[in-house]
Amino acid sequence: MALHLEYTPAIASLIHKVKGCGVISIFTAQEPFMYTAEKINELKDLLKYHEHRYYVLNDPLISDYEYDQLYLQLIKIEQAHPELITPDSPTQRVGNSLNQGFETTPHLVPMLSLDNSYNAEDLIDFDRKARELTKENEIEYCVEPKFDGASISLIYENDLLVKAITRGDGVAGENITPNIRQIKSIPLSAPFSTKGIEQIEIRGEVILSKASFDRYNQKLMEQGLPILANPRNAASGSLRMKDPREVAERNLDAFLYHVSYVTYKTATPTSELNSHAGSLNLLWDMGFRSPKEEKKVVKGIQGVIDYCLAYEAKRDELPYEIDGMVIKVNDIHQQEKMGMTSHHPRWAIAFKFKARQATTTLTEVEFQVGRTGAVTPVAKLKPVFLGGVTVSSISIHNEDYIQQKDLKKGDQVLIERAGDVIPQIVKSLPDLRTGNESPIIFPKNCPVCNSQLFKEEGEAVWRCINIECTAQVVEKMIHFVSKDAMDIKSFGEANIRKFYEIGLLKDIPSIYRLNFNDLTQLDGFGKKSIENLQAAIEASKEQPLYRLIYALGIRFVGETTAKTLANAVSHLLEFSNKTEEELLQLEDVGTKVAKSIQGFFRNPQNIAMLHELADLGLQMENTKREVVSSGNLVGQSFLFTGTLEQLKRSQAEAMVEAAGGNILGGVSSKLNYLVVGADAGSKLEKAKKINTIKIITEQEFINLINP
Ligand code: IVH
Repeated sequence: MALHLEYTPAIASLIHKVKGCGVISIFTAQEPFMYTAEKINELKDLLKYHEHRYYVLNDPLISDYEYDQLYLQLIKIEQAHPELITPDSPTQRVGNSLNQGFETTPHLVPMLSLDNSYNAEDLIDFDRKARELTKENEIEYCVEPKFDGASISLIYENDLLVKAITRGDGVAGENITPNIRQIKSIPLSAPFSTKGIEQIEIRGEVILSKASFDRYNQKLMEQGLPILANPRNAASGSLRMKDPREVAERNLDAFLYHVSYVTYKTATPTSELNSHAGSLNLLWDMGFRSPKEEKKVVKGIQGVIDYCLAYEAKRDELPYEIDGMVIKVNDIHQQEKMGMTSHHPRWAIAFKFKARQATTTLTEVEFQVGRTGAVTPVAKLKPVFLGGVTVSSISIHNEDYIQQKDLKKGDQVLIERAGDVIPQIVKSLPDLRTGNESPIIFPKNCPVCNSQLFKEEGEAVWRCINIECTAQVVEKMIHFVSKDAMDIKSFGEANIRKFYEIGLLKDIPSIYRLNFNDLTQLDGFGKKSIENLQAAIEASKEQPLYRLIYALGIRFVGETTAKTLANAVSHLLEFSNKTEEELLQLEDVGTKVAKSIQGFFRNPQNIAMLHELADLGLQMENTKREVVSSGNLVGQSFLFTGTLEQLKRSQAEAMVEAAGGNILGGVSSKLNYLVVGADAGSKLEKAKKINTIKIITEQEFINLINP
């Protein structure tokens, strides 16, 4: 059977972009064409090419949307022809099943650690021993970053990734292949056979970039969960997660830096593996993210020392964490001559950067009230210089955290700062106590408005529930104007506080009633800055709906959820009629989030504020949501239930809307189609009782969309 591969405008533009890159140009015909197995492989290669551009080279050629279009085409073809699915197909990263424990698996060769050095003398010493062991006058070294993550080994056989194993005890680790398959910068297949290689074991480090780490912690904070101390812990924790799909969401990355074992199909081994630098180049050419660009090959130890120190100076500018450099003898034959101990190879050494940990005294604890009324204890510290900044206060989160870390006023504490990450207290040092320390006592009343504090069952956080509490009102306004929210430039935290104190602002709507004449009296407010502020406030009225939703500061509603919410309505006030069940249909909205959203929109004060904002001219409609009046689903209503396997629910819903259909919130006689995924529950039962509802599978749905 032949199938049409659609020639969409997105693909047309993609052809245009891909052409001339010397890669693949399958979509050259202006007409839809008949596919063949060979064409499918080209489509897979095209997707792999774009994954590599995006995840390894950091230089995408096409938009996410265009990529998704191609991906959907592949899904469609593979559904029609499952016999063409290969284990390295881009669709095969996404597993459906959960990890059932992790099986212990031996490494092909033991995974050794590294010896450490801390200064130039240590490196000079290392070089002296290396010259003695190799009997060389001068040694060529390859120097590269020491990535701060979780180490892994990957085994490829006949070009396919067959196993991924954690370090474990060095001899055997845990088989974490399904989770590693989620890391897009790790190719599922690589053309090792072109180099005569049959089996290869590669080592590397799974890392989480500083940005992904911050995003992840932000999400944890929004959910009221304890945050992680550093990207390293986050990376190693991620590798052992039960659900591979959750691993995919964490945006892990991997650097591969060592070939530990190789067998050949051919008699002559590839010469690239004769040097360490050569193996980094080879890995890069095979599609891996190796430190090819970051490495430096130098003769003699002075060059090594210079490169290590220069790299340490730019450590903070890197998008990921490194905790040192690794120095490796470049020539593999010299490496073999030098051998190894049971702990580490003698031909390599780590140069550890200065620790970004310090001890200081916890002098006092202040309690701050946030925009949701949460009372956060903040430890005041004797100022200490740490990794380029002076740290004088650190959030200590909540009462449970204080207990876990056994913190007292007057304690000596060990603090750590990982890159750009907010400093954390690692632990208290009870052995250094003098007896003058005192317990940290949590207040019973709000430190700002004095009303009684409450703690919900199962929560660690005490809250002030007085919504008129000054602290909350001010914090809400600060959040409202902030960059990721309404982005009212030139407002800023300090101005909000100042304007509130002198009575120019009292709540969010008052931002839009600001009397600019009053500002002329204030220090630092010239004509230009007033005009800028006025223009920024005016411009913010046109911000897209998701920004307004995020700006409202509804508990548990971060930017991602705000986008989901904005896409679910045509007008913000539609939320005042949405039931909890309807909210639960939305992607990533669980009970806690649904309750919080409902609570917000059922509160008359909030509704009054939204009406006020609408009267003041704020944009409350989802302008991006076009009502499509043509397409093959016009007039048809859909509801999805259970877990979809090929599509994300938001993707499927967008497809319905793009084809002119609409999504309903629950099962009723108005519903035309119920699309049933795995583990469907009560909605399916309910729908079975209404004869007019067509109950279809995900595949039937895809066929309906793309007839
Ligand atoms: S080489 C036999 N290179 O650091 C090869 N290790 O503290 C040994 N690490 O266990 C490893 N970046 O997990 C090597 N560029 C790099 C590295 C690196 C990070 C990790 C690795 C190792 C640990 C030792």
